[in-house]
Amino acid sequence: MLEIKNASKIYGEGSAQVVALNNVSLEAGKGGFISIMGPSGSGKSTLLSIIGGLERLSSGEVFLDGMRIDNLSEDAFVNIRRGKISYVFQQYYLLPSLTALENVTLPLTFERHSGHSERALELLKRVGLERRIHHKPGELSGGEQQRVAIARALVTAPSLILADEPTGNMDKKTGDEIMSLFNDLNQEGHTIIMVTHNPEIARHTREIVVLQDGQIVERIRCEGRGNQL
Ligand SMILES: Nc1ncnc2c1ncn2[C@@H]1O[C@H](COP(=O)(O)OP(=O)(O)O)[C@@H](O)[C@H]1O
Ligand SMILES: [Mg+2]
Repeated sequence: MLEIKNASKIYGEGSAQVVALNNVSLEAGKGGFISIMGPSGSGKSTLLSIIGGLERLSSGEVFLDGMRIDNLSEDAFVNIRRGKISYVFQQYYLLPSLTALENVTLPLTFERHSGHSERALELLKRVGLERRIHHKPGELSGGEQQRVAIARALVTAPSLILADEPTGNMDKKTGDEIMSLFNDLNQEGHTIIMVTHNPEIARHTREIVVLQDGQIVERIRCEGRGNQL
């Protein structure tokens, strides 16, 4: 469903140039679960931003379901992306003045059909927050805020979920709960690409892709996958 061909990304100009991605090719099939690892500054977030359309490639191509998406206009990209790709950030990026329910409903604002709150409520139940729906982010723990962010990412029923260190700010138990949720989502057919620093977490995905200096240096299939957390 996702194919990246010879992707390079260069930030800055002249002596300030940084090659964040250097000729990276990667594919993720339907139902794939890939963790991206590598040292700080190796290009992990850049790779995710390219797939999610937050950054433009310097060269290379990205295909989603056979359609080239890296060269689309902003508007066209937003339309193609809707319902297909969602993003989960380490810092959650919830709107502080809105309740959990309102945050999760937000991505549906531009859709015409009704039943938005019901769908949001269903997802908040799914992530175990049915008793926190009227809480604002400031009244929730880090793990709870991340679960709200995951519910928000799921509300458009995306086939591909991108997550940049989603458990990075969490203690082990909370991180395990989030991973168990991602595991269930993957079993249900969502494709997931997740950046993590934690080998314990990466080992529960189907494949580990290791980046170094903007290049893929290793790809490891996780044979033992299926071990529940
Ligand atoms: N907006 C930007 N402008 C300039 N350089 C950037 C920008 N974003 C990232 N970089 C540089 O690109 C490299 C890769 O960054 P990043 O993808 O964030 O790495 P990682 O997520 O693996 O820590 C780093 O050297 C970083 O400093
Ligand atoms: Mg990063």
